Amino acid sequence: MTDDTTTAVGVPAACTGAPVIGPPAAQAVAELGWGMWASAVVQAGAQLRLADAIGEEPVPVEKLAAAVGADADALTRLMRALVAFGVFRQDRPGWYSHSEASRALRADAEVPLTDIMLTGSSWGWEMWGQLAASVRSGRCAFKERYGKDLFTWFAEDDNAAGAAALRGFAAQSRAMNPLVLDALDMTGADRFVDVGGGHGSVVLSLLERYPDVHGVLFDRAHAIASALPELSSPPLADRCELIAGDCFEAVPAGDLFLIRQVLHMWDDDACVQVLANCVRAARPGARVVLLEQLVADPPETPWDALMDLHMLLVMGGRERTAEQWAALYARAGLTWTGVTATGTPLRLVEGRVG
Ligand SMILES: C[S@@+](CC[C@H](N)C(=O)[O-])C[C@H]1O[C@@H](n2cnc3c(N)ncnc32)[C@H](O)[C@@H]1O
Repeated sequence: MTDDTTTAVGVPAACTGAPVIGPPAAQAVAELGWGMWASAVVQAGAQLRLADAIGEEPVPVEKLAAAVGADADALTRLMRALVAFGVFRQDRPGWYSHSEASRALRADAEVPLTDIMLTGSSWGWEMWGQLAASVRSGRCAFKERYGKDLFTWFAEDDNAAGAAALRGFAAQSRAMNPLVLDALDMTGADRFVDVGGGHGSVVLSLLERYPDVHGVLFDRAHAIASALPELSSPPLADRCELIAGDCFEAVPAGDLFLIRQVLHMWDDDACVQVLANCVRAARPGARVVLLEQLVADPPETPWDALMDLHMLLVMGGRERTAEQWAALYARAGLTWTGVTATGTPLRLVEGRVG
């Protein structure tokens, strides 16, 4: 049962109970802005891994605070907010147990929601605070703040943040793979290369679906080092290669290049460089398929526009229209073949060599 103040699963909307400050349009915009507080509450709950510190029985806040390394009074106040959103239940003052929503944040939940929430929990939060500055300058907030790009920072400064980000990317990829890969035509693909494939969840799904196909997971060394173990053990190891490298230098040979949510991180010239490296490594008739969100004006969904801004902030990249992708394919010497919907925010953006 839903009403104006709850979502489909009965979780209160971010600003339920907020003061009425004006007519509906003003109210709606104010509540979008205040929603930042609700995001912070959920992010903090995930960062503290509260869901894993509560078992089947109610727990007193002092025990919870000791388990997660928190101040008991401040944690009581955070729990109050989480309980207000239906994330955790309060059994009696100072005692908490799981709700359906808080169980979704447990490490053993069906979907690794905490991994997804923590993808960019620290650095991403900081970057979104720089949105107005980034829009003024047109520059990438991350590079302005740290003087280097995100993945170099992961490798040189914060391996743990890099590992958390890769876990989050992989979890989101696993959730979308079934629909996205249903839409992918594998005809003629004998050896595919997943460029910037992260942990390799797309490679794993494809090798499981197509028993005669060989796959290559290609990524930077830090990602290859934490590739899914199934890829390097029987029965898939014979059909899978793990190759560390830099796609700006070269990519391994193949007849299908998949690039999932990688090129949107970069500017046009960088995208053309990677696409041209695919052309150089391509077997005759090879295809290059990007798995990317598209933007349109006006956007089809707010999420499309949010992801575009996220790319500006953290990588200096962008989401693109189909026409913009077609122009980049042409610059790289690829023949544009079009866009396929997948039933997810991602589209298959495709071109052919020659
Ligand atoms: C947003 S993640 C996407 C990961 C994966 N394709 C997915 O969709 O889950 C971007 C990936 O690009 C990789 N990457 C970044 N720079 C790269 C480079 N120069 N060469 C190869 N891979 C790179 C990162 O290590 C990371 O795995």
